[in-house]
Amino acid sequence: AEIMKGKFDHFMQKEIYEQPESVINTMRGRVNFDNHVVTLGGLRQFLPIIRRGRRIVFCACGTSYHSAVATRAIFEELTEIPVGVELASDFLDRKTPIFRDDVCVFISQSGETADTILALRYCLERGALCVGIVNTVGSTLSRETHCGVHINAGPEIGVASTKAYTSQFIALLMFALVLSEDRISMGERRKQIIDGLHELPGQIKRVLEGDKALQDLARTTLANQRSLLIMGRGYQNATCLEGALKIKEISYMHSEGILAGELKHGPLALIDENMPVIIVMTRDSLFPKVQSALAQITARKAQPIIICNEDEEAFPKFKTIRVPKTVDCLQGLINIVPLQLLSYHLAIKNGFDVDFPRNLAKSVTTE
Ligand code: G6P
Repeated sequence: AEIMKGKFDHFMQKEIYEQPESVINTMRGRVNFDNHVVTLGGLRQFLPIIRRGRRIVFCACGTSYHSAVATRAIFEELTEIPVGVELASDFLDRKTPIFRDDVCVFISQSGETADTILALRYCLERGALCVGIVNTVGSTLSRETHCGVHINAGPEIGVASTKAYTSQFIALLMFALVLSEDRISMGERRKQIIDGLHELPGQIKRVLEGDKALQDLARTTLANQRSLLIMGRGYQNATCLEGALKIKEISYMHSEGILAGELKHGPLALIDENMPVIIVMTRDSLFPKVQSALAQITARKAQPIIICNEDEEAFPKFKTIRVPKTVDCLQGLINIVPLQLLSYHLAIKNGFDVDFPRNLAKSVTTE
């Protein structure tokens, strides 16, 4: 194991740092950046059925579920097929109606998560077309689905999932790009996204170069806190949920991802000068709305840390975490990286076993 970690102290750290390459591996042989064509061999035969489907249901647990939340909006925009996102356990609890013309997409790093496998079998019985988005070749999920995409992120050992998230995100994006290839009206948007994917590995590398500042932030500002709220909206909703999950998983600090749009319906009551908040404010069409959330929390004396674009000038008075700018629907791939690093440093600072957090397993094979 020591040899496999190379120059890194932990698998999680190694896997965070692998992302500039793992995202390339996910796209290799699939995304042609010159002619803007995306091909997914594992789905080819089934594309006509998927395009005729009346809806798509994404189903997963944990971090894999967050990759579905992250890509739902762009999936719906590109394909114009309604997409539902489901936590596998809740999906089963509700005995959700599923029909022959449904397309169900199961996302799993391990391919062995019991809840996700049971949800798959439930959908198979009802005659739905079942697609797997899986990292582990030969796993139960990849064997039992009708077709699918391997994310090719390489083995992930740290219990807290990092590189699998960014690769699942990209696999779902590629899926949407393939489904929408014949939509002329989406041509420009598709081209913009594929160009954005081309720039992505270099941009993730730039975020990793800022690791020292994140380590300082974790040690000085956040390590002694009891709680941390992570707020944003739209495409960044998933970033907030996934960032908060990383923090609670390995640093055992209470953390919550909050949709800024829901702030006034409850979470605002938590805000005072002592409540640590990270607010995700990279520029997109919802920026003005997040600005109003920022105003609401600063009016209650919170001192947020802002995740914003490198050249942002709007926040001279705040602590910031600066990240490269990309296409709106890809920005979450970049914004999650500083939160992965922060959670890592928080856990280290508090002396916890980053790769094997208490009470958690890499793959939960029981219901
Ligand atoms: C466990 C792991 C998480 C993971 C989730 C789903 O809870 O600790 O990191 O996101 O299972 O796992 P899967 O292998 O299905 O993606």
